[in-house]
Amino acid sequence: MEKPAKTDFPVVELVRDRWSPRAFSDYLPSFEELGSLMEAARWAASCYNGQPWRFILARKDQEELYKAIFGCLVDKNQEWAYQAPVLGILVVAKTFEHNGKPNPWRDFDCGLAMGQLALQAESLDLKVHMMAGFHKDKAKETFNIPEEFEPLVAFAIGKKGDPDTLPEELAEREKAPRERKNLKELVFGKEWGKPAEWLE
Ligand SMILES: Cc1cc2nc3c(=O)[nH]c(=O)nc-3n(C[C@H](O)[C@H](O)[C@H](O)COP(=O)(O)O)c2cc1C
Repeated sequence: MEKPAKTDFPVVELVRDRWSPRAFSDYLPSFEELGSLMEAARWAASCYNGQPWRFILARKDQEELYKAIFGCLVDKNQEWAYQAPVLGILVVAKTFEHNGKPNPWRDFDCGLAMGQLALQAESLDLKVHMMAGFHKDKAKETFNIPEEFEPLVAFAIGKKGDPDTLPEELAEREKAPRERKNLKELVFGKEWGKPAEWLE
């Protein structure tokens, strides 16, 4: 199943074709592929080149580690994420290394890193599904995450699978087309809320 973005302007295929599945196939990504995903994240831009991202990552065959990550997910995400061949948690450094001060851009930087990771995944015919729904305190405890770091987002990686393996409600959402706000609601000129002239 493909769910290409319906765009008003052309975009690169990786952007068009990326989406967040809940059904995954049995395909187990190689560590070579996972290494490419981590490289794509590693080479993201970041404020002061602070690189605040850290990753905890497990393939399904790394049973103990995989179960430990899975156990941090909220029930709603566990309903589908058990199919994912790879699970991970992105952990963010709260402060800059160069001066020890709080880094207000840390989550922004991590978003860039995850965006690059997702597009690299797409280029390998893998998909990424990010999850805010996980227990941060449990993750901190399970993985002994130091005080200076904060779990930010969990994610599932794999090749997309058969939507009909999902519970009915999730299967319907899986098959639904992807929706976005209109560009005119997002891109303004001088007057706040009014579409930029070139979009009229
Ligand atoms: C930071 C973040 C947190 C998310 N949390 C969840 C989540 O907990 N559970 C879930 O099923 N999807 C989650 N999603 C996926 C979004 O619902 C999804 O990206 C959005 O509906 C757009 O769909 P698309 O990625 O297929 O284009 C999350 C996405 C992001 C970026």
